[in-house]
Parts: sequence; structure tokens; C-alpha cells
Amino acid sequence: MYKTFVFYCSPAGTTRQVAEVIEKGLVGNGRQVIVCELGKEEEKLSETLREIEETRERVCLFIGSPVYASHALPLVMDFIVRLPLHRQAYAVPFVTWGGATSGLALAEMGEALKAREYGLVGAARVMAVHSLMWELENPVGAGRPDSADDRMIENLVAVIERNLQRPEPVRLSGQALSYQPEAVAAEMRKLSLKIARGILPQRVVNKDLCNGCGVCVDQCPVAALTLEPYPVYADNCILCFNCMRCCPEKAIEADLTAIHERVRERAENYKEDPLSKVFIPAEV
Ligand SMILES: Cc1cc2nc3c(=O)[nH]c(=O)nc-3n(C[C@H](O)[C@H](O)[C@H](O)COP(=O)(O)O)c2cc1C
Repeated sequence: MYKTFVFYCSPAGTTRQVAEVIEKGLVGNGRQVIVCELGKEEEKLSETLREIEETRERVCLFIGSPVYASHALPLVMDFIVRLPLHRQAYAVPFVTWGGATSGLALAEMGEALKAREYGLVGAARVMAVHSLMWELENPVGAGRPDSADDRMIENLVAVIERNLQRPEPVRLSGQALSYQPEAVAAEMRKLSLKIARGILPQRVVNKDLCNGCGVCVDQCPVAALTLEPYPVYADNCILCFNCMRCCPEKAIEADLTAIHERVRERAENYKEDPLSKVFIPAEV
């Protein structure tokens, strides 16, 4: 027997879409699944971590993050560091990425999980529409994830189920998730969300348009916004731009044109193939 958990952060909803496919697959196999959205449900998260710590059964955690500035979200990495040590713990990191580059996110999540002694029994990168391109008619990654991506994830869940039935589940080999060429990886190590803060345009609240409705506050995935009486950003803002995308009055303004160009350039430069991919141990 083992217990399954799905943790994710998903400002624009595509990582949640993948998490739902995983959950459905697990439930279809008769498993009870605990799902927790990182950044929002601190109380549930603490309880769930306690449950992982206390159970004597095997545990398998699916952990999802979007790729931001070539890395997993810092809040997802911080969550991994908090994971309790457990005798028989397994994990499956998964990322969604917007076609620029999936970067080092999976490799870094994998390393952090191994450091907590979670055995990697699978992983996935899933192509998604780029969440900074919602204003465009032809965003990079339009229509993704699609039904083929869903099938790929369903298959991953089935393989993991089989693997976890073994007395000793097979793990991914050490370097399986380090798929970026070293020169590219070195370049990506220099990037971070902190640096992206300096590259992304400032959001400006247009006080003539803002009517204080609070939709931006509700839609912020990390509770970084308060109305005073106009939206004010706290330091934990992750730059997802949900506030701007969701504002019914279009009162939050920023010019993303240069970012759109940069995304297309990067998509052209890095050309990851295949765009969506699952990683499973060779012997399974
Ligand atoms: C601030 C920011 C940085 C991003 N950086 C990258 C990146 O480095 N590479 C990439 O391919 N996509 C990047 N994206 C796009 C997201 O990874 C992609 O759209 C993801 O699927 C969003 O997940 P969500 O829908 O769960 O929020 C970025 C998006 C944002 C908002």
C-alpha cells in the first residue's frame, strides 16, 4: 500500500490542468489522493506534511511547478526543502513551460527531492501556452497542454502505479533530468526570478480605471496583493501577472511587447524536442 499526494502551484491554471489529469489517473486506480495548492492553503499544507511524516505506509508525491525564468518557482523549491524525511518516500516532479525553455526546473526539483531522500520514480515536462502572452492571438504554446499531453500524463501515472507495486521501486538514473547542454545550463544558472524582476516591465495601476473590486487580490496565487485602496504589491509577488490578466477594468497596465519578443527568440534558440516528455526509469 502507499499514499499519494499532489502538490502544485499554478498561477495561470495549466499546471493545475496537469495535476488534475494525475489526480484522475490515481483515483481511477482506486487511490485516495490528497491535493494541495502551494501558496494558498498553508493550514492544509502543514496538516498534510504532518500526515506524510506520521504515516508508516509508502508515500508518493507528485509535485508541479511552472517554469519561471528557467527555474521552478522558488516557493515550490522552498516546499521541497520542508518535506519530512520518510523511510519509503517517492516523488514525481512535473513542470509546465511556455515554449521558451524548460530550463533547469526539473533537474533542480529532482536534486532537491533526492536531498530529502525521496526516490524519483518518474518526471514530466509539459508544453503549455506561455502565460505572459494572454493578450496575443498566437501565443507560443497555443492550445497546449492538449489531449496528447493528457494521454502522455495518464500513461506516466499508469507506469508509476506498476513501478510502486514492486518490493523495491526502480528509480530514475542520477542524470536523467539534467538534459540541458552544459553551456546552456551554465547560462540558465545565472538567471533567476529576482533577475527577471529587473527585466519584466513595471505594472502601473491606473487609478482612473481601478474601482477597488478586489478581483486582483482574489486571483493572486500567493496573497501578495492588498487594496490600500488601490492594489499594492508585497515582496512575495512572483510576477505571474494574474492581477493584470484578470482585472475586469484593465486597470493594471504594463507593456509586455519586449517580453513577447524575448520569448519567441528563446523558443527559436533552445528548440527542445520533444516539447512534452515523460521520464521513466529504463527498466520499468
Ligand atoms: C514571470 C514568468 C516567467 C516565465 N519564464 C518562463 C521560462 O523561462 N521558460 C518558459 O518556457 N516559460 C516561462 N514562462 C511561462 C510559464 O512557464 C508557462 O506558461 C506555464 O505553463 C505557466 O503555468 P501556470 O499556467 O500553471 O501558471 C514564464 C511565465 C512567467 C509569468
